[in-house]
Amino acid sequence: MTLELGVLISGRGSNLGAILDATAERRLDARVRLVVSNRADAAGLERARLAGVATAVVDHKAHPDRESFDRALVRLFCAAGVDWLVLAGFMRIVTGTLLSAFPDRVVNIHPALLPAFPGVDAQAQAIAYGVRVTGCTVHLVNEGVDTGPILAQSIEPVLPTDTRDTLAARLLPREHDLLVRALGWIADGRLTVHRAPASGARPEIELRGVDPLVR
Ligand code: GRF
Repeated sequence: MTLELGVLISGRGSNLGAILDATAERRLDARVRLVVSNRADAAGLERARLAGVATAVVDHKAHPDRESFDRALVRLFCAAGVDWLVLAGFMRIVTGTLLSAFPDRVVNIHPALLPAFPGVDAQAQAIAYGVRVTGCTVHLVNEGVDTGPILAQSIEPVLPTDTRDTLAARLLPREHDLLVRALGWIADGRLTVHRAPASGARPEIELRGVDPLVR
């Protein structure tokens, strides 16, 4: 099944670039239909344009609240024929308005082993805490901050000499690899999300025939 992707970014867009490269090289059965940034100066927009992908800027400051901002995003992604959304360095919290338009179809990449170090600057949080191992996580998005069901994780040792930047530089290629892999598993139809009816329990993730721990 070819995934029809919408990608949300706020900045550099290297994870977006990894998706675009993988689709161009046919390592990933997906089409990026639309890239949306909340910032007009996001470098990732240019990356998308160079790949011939449609882009849009939706400035969150032009909307009175998060719901109104998310409604604008939903309109654009639905009009573009998107069926899965990827948050690739998107620095906004999404609401139920967006999530209910794409139920269990919003994926995020986070540069830490969740549930450790959610939120901003996870690499600096890991250094400050003194952990010996960290990594990155691809998960489905829910209304919390980096709290959704985990699809896949990749691990990376923290070296005594590491700074926030050296650690981030080693994590980044892992992020790219993990995100593309996880999207590939979805495209292959390997993912089922089991939700207990009428219960607040965490959905259970079933991924068939793959190892969701990448060393
Ligand atoms: C990545 O570290 C990602 O995990 C985090 O924000 C950063 C975005 O980088 N959510 P890029 O814009 O994809 O280069």
